[in-house]
Amino acid sequence: MSGSPAAPCRLPRDAILKKAYVKSYGCQMNAYDAGRMADVLAAEGYSATEAVEEADIVVLNTCHIREKAAEKVYSELGRLRVLKGERAEAGRETKIVVAGCVAQAEGREILSRAPAVDVVVGPQSYHRLPDLLRRSREGRVVDTEFPLEDKFDHLPARRNRGVTGFLTVQEGCDKFCAFCVVPYTRGAEVSRSVAAVVEEARRLVADGVREITLIGQNVNAYHGDGADGAPATLGILMDALAQVPGLLRLRYTTSHPNDFADDLIAAHAHNPLVMPYLHLPVQSGSDRILHAMNRRHTGDAYRRLIARIRDARPDIALSSDFIVGFPGETDADFAETMRLVSDIGFAAAFSFKYSPRAGTPAAEREDAVPESVKTERLAELQKLLDAQRHAFNEAAVGTVAEILVEKVGRHPGQVAGKTPHLQAVQFDAPASTIGTLVPVRIVRSGSNSLFGERLPDAAAAA
Ligand code: 5AD
Ligand code: SF4
Repeated sequence: MSGSPAAPCRLPRDAILKKAYVKSYGCQMNAYDAGRMADVLAAEGYSATEAVEEADIVVLNTCHIREKAAEKVYSELGRLRVLKGERAEAGRETKIVVAGCVAQAEGREILSRAPAVDVVVGPQSYHRLPDLLRRSREGRVVDTEFPLEDKFDHLPARRNRGVTGFLTVQEGCDKFCAFCVVPYTRGAEVSRSVAAVVEEARRLVADGVREITLIGQNVNAYHGDGADGAPATLGILMDALAQVPGLLRLRYTTSHPNDFADDLIAAHAHNPLVMPYLHLPVQSGSDRILHAMNRRHTGDAYRRLIARIRDARPDIALSSDFIVGFPGETDADFAETMRLVSDIGFAAAFSFKYSPRAGTPAAEREDAVPESVKTERLAELQKLLDAQRHAFNEAAVGTVAEILVEKVGRHPGQVAGKTPHLQAVQFDAPASTIGTLVPVRIVRSGSNSLFGERLPDAAAAA
């Protein structure tokens, strides 16, 4: 490496030309991890590319939550094997990395099923990626340890990610719901300290981020070290984040009903940055099925909790996750799920057919629900949830909302942003509004987005 004035930075010349393609599947935790892996690779001289054909490193950040998600990875790896062969013929090396939860769950097995893979790395050890890539020159490597060191202490600084950003505050899960692989792939619950989270938030805001979504598999079980050394709650953490100058909005996901502390409910009333939106998975409305799922609460306990949250923040928009066709689920159990959805009214939701996952208690059960019944129930549930989502969006028409502008819109002269209730909105305004809050009258509700008209700034207070 020369000190030539033409060299743009202090990286080896060949490294400057290298490109990394990082693809993420599944949840927001994975999206966050994928971004951090891109940071790790950038520090090694790899620039990001969206074109897989030109990538010297391909990272698939995988999801293991349902069978379909896991199988997608193997079909992608099949395609990558062909691509790697073609690039090799042209004299170019390609490293293929499998990261994330399939890597954690299947480890070495991936090497035998997918011959093109060079590195398998779990969600707790990706800070070691540079070392693993070096070691892969001698042979294929697998690292699925839960290392003693904290990966966050070993990651390079984060880089700009637009107006909204995810920030991992908690990882892992101790709940062991009977259907779920997360406690096995992501390990036990661990929280980052308030100081570490605030520091990362400050850096994000300095890079232009205005809305931060705090993420964790069980984010409301957050119990990181606080300023006084005592464990802090998520409510306390959000109070500390509200002091970060320039930060406009806070969201958090995903929560468990049993960890919903009073001070978190109170935060929705007193912390102006906390948006009136809550994703709170319930999975089923049947007490029998909730018990079999090891959720450790009833349908009515969920209803009561929602009532208390609505008392604190009457306009809160609710979202949830549902599983249909859990083993042993009868028509009567499913009817209870439909009743709960009708009682509560959701602004958004995710619903899935139960998918047996090896190693989880539910996968051992012999009373599986037939696929055709799962399909029917899912369609029925989604019809109701879609109708609720449409009604929620229709109800916004005619109201004025403060929109955080995130990017330019689909048409020239338009921008796109979100309401406090996480609804996408398009409206006419210059790109200079990106990163600011703009008052908008909602005039129409489309299938995936609302449409609005910008109001003078004074209308925001109205
Ligand atoms: N089958 C179907 N859905 C599942 N989920 C988790 N595990 C399974 C499974 N085995 C769903 C739950 C969870 C969401 C992230 O994925 O609804 O809240
Ligand atoms: Fe999985 Fe249940 Fe933990 Fe959520 S709370 S990650 S569904 S085990």
